[in-house]
Amino acid sequence: MSDAPLRTDSTVLSHRPAGAGCRMLVLRAPEIAAAAAPGRFVHLRVPALEASALRRPFSICDADPATGSLSILYKEVGRGTAAMAALAPGDRVDLMGPLGRGFPLPPPDADVLLVGGGYGVAPLHFLAKVLSSTPRTGRIVLFAGGRTAADLLLLGGFRALGVEIRPATDDGSLGDRGLVTAPLDAFLEDAGPAARRAVLFACGPFPMLRALDERAAARGFAAWLSLDRRMACGVGACCGCAQKVRDPDGAVRVATVCGDGPVFPAGSVVWD
Ligand SMILES: Cc1cc2nc3c(=O)[nH]c(=O)nc-3n(C[C@H](O)[C@H](O)[C@H](O)COP(=O)(O)OP(=O)(O)OC[C@H]3O[C@@H](n4cnc5c(N)ncnc54)[C@H](O)[C@@H]3O)c2cc1C
Ligand code: FES
Repeated sequence: MSDAPLRTDSTVLSHRPAGAGCRMLVLRAPEIAAAAAPGRFVHLRVPALEASALRRPFSICDADPATGSLSILYKEVGRGTAAMAALAPGDRVDLMGPLGRGFPLPPPDADVLLVGGGYGVAPLHFLAKVLSSTPRTGRIVLFAGGRTAADLLLLGGFRALGVEIRPATDDGSLGDRGLVTAPLDAFLEDAGPAARRAVLFACGPFPMLRALDERAAARGFAAWLSLDRRMACGVGACCGCAQKVRDPDGAVRVATVCGDGPVFPAGSVVWD
């Protein structure tokens, strides 16, 4: 995963609303699609912004080397993502990637627990797609959290991949009422000691990731957490996305989310 990132002039293939203020942007970027792996991201130069504006990082939600297409699920939160909303089929987009270290693939017999909040389901979708394309005996279960049922993204896509879905919503409109950790805790309780053989992958807000980190430590299962930090260079050169991490020997050091992450093993992130 330390291969040099590619920079390419991609073309917008399609761009459509995906619910909850998000849009799905599909680009033709054959070289990046061929090198893409779950958990890695692309750094996109927003065409409508001035040339000096920073690129914006987005997880790879899907990639198809056969067609050369690459999909990004994004939420409009500010200037860059608002400008992206105007992109139309045929527009050109300067893309860099794939960047960062992604999710390691779990053994085929391990139960895979995907935990996502908001657009955090994007890299989990790509992971589920890759895992479901090879023979597995372990289950793949998605624990998706949001404010209401309408905020839970890509559920149809996960179902089509054969993923079991355990939702949680703040208002109880779908699944458990409350945090996404509620259905996860129920699942872990049912699994008993077998839960130790599960591997959890998560992407979402920091408080959710921290809660999952604590559960992995308490119950002894492996977990991989994808961190979302503001980024500048995206390639480990500016320290703009510094994150304190603890090495296995206990030493604390400063890592970069773009170069050393965005995926970190449970137990390694120092939550300030
Ligand atoms: C590795 C990685 C993967 C990401 N994947 C996705 C994805 O798949 N889909 C998606 O919609 N977004 C994703 N993001 C977040 C996305 O990069 C930001 O939302 C985007 O850059 C905001 O640009 P903007 O110009 O619209 O917002 P700005 O005008 O720059 O900021 C608007 C608001 O968003 C906040 N913000 C900006 N960047 C981030 C960030 N990285 N994390 C949290 N808050 C932020 C700002 O503090 C501010 O409150 C990812 C970020 C990282 C680091
Ligand atoms: S954004 Fe520059 S080091 Fe990560």
